[in-house]
Amino acid sequence: MTPAELRALVRTVPDFPAKGIQFRDITTLLNHGRGLADSVAALADNVAAHAPDRIVGMEARGFIFGAAVAVHLSLPFVPIRKPGKLPVEALSVDYALEYGTDRLELDAGAIAKGDRIAIVDDLIATGGTALAAAELLRQAGADAVCAGFVIDLPDLGGAAKLEADGVPVSALMQFD
Ligand code: PRP
Ligand code: ADE
Repeated sequence: MTPAELRALVRTVPDFPAKGIQFRDITTLLNHGRGLADSVAALADNVAAHAPDRIVGMEARGFIFGAAVAVHLSLPFVPIRKPGKLPVEALSVDYALEYGTDRLELDAGAIAKGDRIAIVDDLIATGGTALAAAELLRQAGADAVCAGFVIDLPDLGGAAKLEADGVPVSALMQFD
C-alpha cells in the first residue's frame, strides 16, 4: 500500500481521552491485514538500517508493532512496561504525556551492556514516552541507535527532542 493509503487507515477521534486531543487511533490500521503487514514491513526496513541487536517496545501499543518488527527481523524483543508489572527488580523512569504522567520500567537483565537497541512504538507526540525509554536503555548501559514510529505528531515536538537526544527518528506518516 502507498503511504497515503496507510495514512487513510488511521482513524481520528476528537476529544479523546480529553477535550482538545485529536486521538490518532491505530486500531483501524491493525484491523486491515495488508495495512498491518505493510506498516510492519516499512517499520522493520527503517529500523534495520541501523543494524540493531534488539527491539524494545513500550506498553501497550508499542508491544504490537515492536514485537511484530522483531519477528519480521528475527531479532529479540524486550517489553518496556508500565509500573508494577515486571516480576523482577526493574529500572524505572517517570515521564510526562500529552494527557497526564506515567512511569516506565525495564528489566536491566534483558539487555546486554553495549547492545544496539531500536525503540519501536505506534506514535510519538511530546516524546515523553520515547525519551523515557531512551533513558532506561542508557541506565542499562545500552545504546538507543534509532526509534521507529508509525505516526509522528511533529507539532508536539517529540521527534525533534529525541533527535536532539542523539536518537535518529523515522515515522511512516505525520498528522498535525
Ligand atoms: C501513547 C502512545 C505512545 C505515547 C506517545 O501511549 O502509544 O507510547 O502515548 O506520547 P508521547 O510522545 O507524548 O509520550 P499511552 O501512554 O497512551 O499508552 P497505551 O499504549 O497503553 O495506550
Ligand atoms: N498518544 C499521545 N498523544 C496521542 C494522540 N494524539 N493520539 C493517539 N495516541 C496518542
